[in-house]
Amino acid sequence: MEPRSRRASRQKKSDNNGIGKIAAVIVVSTLLIGLAIFFAINQEDKGAKNASEETKKETTPSTTEPTKPSSSEPQIELTEIQMLVNKEHGLDEDYVPPDLIVPKIKFVYQTAEIKQMQRVAAESLEKMFEAAKQDGLPLAGVSGYRSYKTQKILYNNYVKRDGQEAADRYSAKPGHSEHMTGLTMDIAGYSGKCAASDCFHNTKEAQWLKDNAYKYGFILRYPPGKEEITGYKHESWHYRYVGEPLAKFIYEKQITLEEYYETYAKK
Ligand code: DAL
Ligand code: ZN
Repeated sequence: MEPRSRRASRQKKSDNNGIGKIAAVIVVSTLLIGLAIFFAINQEDKGAKNASEETKKETTPSTTEPTKPSSSEPQIELTEIQMLVNKEHGLDEDYVPPDLIVPKIKFVYQTAEIKQMQRVAAESLEKMFEAAKQDGLPLAGVSGYRSYKTQKILYNNYVKRDGQEAADRYSAKPGHSEHMTGLTMDIAGYSGKCAASDCFHNTKEAQWLKDNAYKYGFILRYPPGKEEITGYKHESWHYRYVGEPLAKFIYEKQITLEEYYETYAKK
């Protein structure tokens, strides 16, 4: 039999060893748990950072194709020259534009009324015709200002010939034609061939006008693919004076006058 005292001291030693081992396990586990928590928090933080960068990327507007006006876009001063005339917006029957003159250009038809334009538009038209001539593509005027009465005769004839549904796709009702503003000119090549007809679409003159008219303050008023917006089929010959700043803006954005008023004009 072992003496009780020795047994007790051995027992104590082994107890001490056990406690030490447990303590060591606790310390190591605490350290490991601590490290795990540290890494977990760190990872979460990184994730949050990435997520916020992703959100930033998604919400930062693209600078190449703004769909809505931004404060950096020029605010264009709007006067009578930029007036919107279309199927929804008409002019009074007795409206006559101010300062009508006949631009010094060649005309396809010799009717006095339809040679006229408002002076500001006429003078710019002359410059544009001169530039086209310099580029080897002389042009001719087809139809400028048209009174309410003239538009009524034209529209009624078209309706008789093609029916109202078809006529409404290419001719304005009286009071709703841009020609009544004195700011519009239908343009043809010098020979007058294809004047105000679809066969003008693929001519060099039509292409020149499409590329250059904005420099003189004119816009292609009824471009292809925009009938739902403008109300009219493509008219490669119908140019509307709106002034240089707005013409450039509309040309660069490839929009119509309707879209300009809807999206960009000061409300
Ligand atoms: N051809 C255009 C739409 C007009 O009649 O004014
Ligand atoms: Zn026209």
